[in-house]
Amino acid sequence: MRSSLARVLEGYEQAAAEAEERLAAAADIGAVADIERDLLGRRSRFTAAKRQLGDLDPGERAEAGRRLNAARQRVETSVAAARTRLTAAARADRHAAERLDLTERLPQAAPLRRGSFHPVTQARDRLEDVFIGMGYTVAEGPEVESAWYNFEALNIPEWHPARGSFDTIFVNLGEPEQVMLRSHTSPVQIRVMENRKPPIYIVAPGRTFRADTADATHLPAFNQIEGLAIDRNITMGDLAGTIDEFVRAFFGTEVKSRLRPSYFPFTEPSAEFDISRPDGSWLELGGCGMVHPNVLRNCGIDPEQWQGFAFGFGIDRLAVMRHEIDDIREFVNNDVRFLSQF
Ligand code: PHE
Repeated sequence: MRSSLARVLEGYEQAAAEAEERLAAAADIGAVADIERDLLGRRSRFTAAKRQLGDLDPGERAEAGRRLNAARQRVETSVAAARTRLTAAARADRHAAERLDLTERLPQAAPLRRGSFHPVTQARDRLEDVFIGMGYTVAEGPEVESAWYNFEALNIPEWHPARGSFDTIFVNLGEPEQVMLRSHTSPVQIRVMENRKPPIYIVAPGRTFRADTADATHLPAFNQIEGLAIDRNITMGDLAGTIDEFVRAFFGTEVKSRLRPSYFPFTEPSAEFDISRPDGSWLELGGCGMVHPNVLRNCGIDPEQWQGFAFGFGIDRLAVMRHEIDDIREFVNNDVRFLSQF
């Protein structure tokens, strides 16, 4: 082997061995590429050595070629290993940088506060619980109603002056004044009686709507809860007892209830019921009465066989009373300072 080639070969083998260490220590992909170009590129010692191989005798050429290739392979293997290592490290760095800590907590100085249900929702839930405890089930009906359910089936025909007292908000659908936002929860009575056979014991809480201007005691969108009991031999005494029972369960024994004669087309006799305030005055809560025979007939129930009572009252008013709130509009102002008290 010519000495110049031997030198080149040795030099290359030496460089390949050093490259292995340099590659192991390389800090980035760019450094690897530099080393690679240095040792395998067009102007590298490897290319120079390869060119010289052609001048050798075939015997020597085989031996020199083998050494040169072994050294090259060594370099290639180290380059590949360094690339793999640095690519993985770069990916790990990127992941660390992009990491989002979804378990992040606010610092101790601002402890997390637990949310709570709206006071009206709380009152509604409690009412449901009280009535469920008395053997009632919970029923629901739509907020947009037809004149049949909101009025007619409830014994309020078209010409009836009671229609005027509901300040109904009509929906621009179908014939004029035939589709409306329900002005009370009483239509749910009809829906239930149409679909179930007595005995029936249901309460139906839900949103109701009237064209009222909001003030301290009125909201145009408010909540009522309807009650309906249909069975054999039900009397006005059962109604009074049920209202008394619920008032005690909801407010405690210090609150009293009373019935005052009143008028609703769908009950006969009808009454309004009040509850006592701490100062001794009475708060009007809702209406009630014995279900009118026409209403039972409208639902296919024989009034000779079945009787019942119904009541309906405002849930928002109840919550106002319970929490001694001055202005019912607080319930819809969405002020978290107000709401977080409950
Ligand atoms: N629906 C009546 C109202 O809003 C209340 C009521 C319900 C009266 C059931 C009697 C029986 O105002």
